[in-house]
Amino acid sequence: MNAVIKKEMLSENVVRMVLEAPAIAKKRKAGQFILLKVDEKGEKIPLTIVDSDAQQGTITIIFQVVGKTTTMLADKKKGEFIHDLQGPLGNPTEIEHFGHVVCIGGGVGVGVVYPIAVALKAAGNRVTSIIGARTKELLILEEEMKKVSDHLVVATDDGSYGFHGFVSAVLQDMLDRKEKIDRVYAVGPVPMMRVLCDVTRAHGIKTIVSLNSLMLDASGMCGACRVSVGGKTKFTCVDGPEFDGHEVDFAILANRLRMYSQQERQSLEMYRCACHG
Ligand code: NAD
Ligand code: FES
Repeated sequence: MNAVIKKEMLSENVVRMVLEAPAIAKKRKAGQFILLKVDEKGEKIPLTIVDSDAQQGTITIIFQVVGKTTTMLADKKKGEFIHDLQGPLGNPTEIEHFGHVVCIGGGVGVGVVYPIAVALKAAGNRVTSIIGARTKELLILEEEMKKVSDHLVVATDDGSYGFHGFVSAVLQDMLDRKEKIDRVYAVGPVPMMRVLCDVTRAHGIKTIVSLNSLMLDASGMCGACRVSVGGKTKFTCVDGPEFDGHEVDFAILANRLRMYSQQERQSLEMYRCACHG
């Protein structure tokens, strides 16, 4: 059992939660995730570790409330308990001094790219970050990203704040201006990662994406999180979660992510009915 130490809303349906998890806090590295079970019977969901405090014995997660499990998690109050946490899982981000790196986060994906930007900056890279949201109220972690970046560009789809357009247009603009970029990290919705990879492929810039596949047990055995990378089947839980974006089959990933959407909707409706009588 792990206590909820702190909970806050970052936007309408995005929650930042600090959890008691001393063993994980001591070991975790950028790019790794936990598998979390809210109650005894519930499903396990993977969530990136956004931050940790080894002295306090805590980790921070950020999640979007989309289905039954994330709704149950968001309903937890400070002082209440999460049934089970496993981790840290997955391979840490490969961190080196690459030169000029661009870290791109879309929507709630900014929470996933943040620890990567922190580690890249600590390794001496020049970090440009691009963060995007549909509208200003949905933008998260602007201050945090500004602190770890040499330069931060904000973009909104509706133009309510910062650049008017997608994060991919900001990157395209940098490349059109012949900015030298050594590596790109992109985390967000599948269409965003696919478009960004198309942009960087044309310039031969290595691009790392973090994939949020469905997972069951993170054992590398059940196959639930399988993705196709370079024509080969990979398991996101043990081979990832980060992959060379130019090798990822995004169409297969998008199909697999949609596979249980009807069941997820039904499950959420049943949970809401049970809560409200
Ligand atoms: P969103 O749909 O609001 O998009 C966020 C930003 O991504 C946009 O502002 C835009 O800049 C960019 N974007 C979106 N579509 C694009 C396109 N077609 N071309 C170029 N850029 C585009 O994001 P949201 O609702 O916060 O995101 C939720 C999605 O992110 C879910 O699908 C979720 O599964 C995914 N997600 C992924 C990860 C991961 O590890 N990859 C982690 C968390 C969430
Ligand atoms: Fe079972 Fe990855 S979640 S193999």
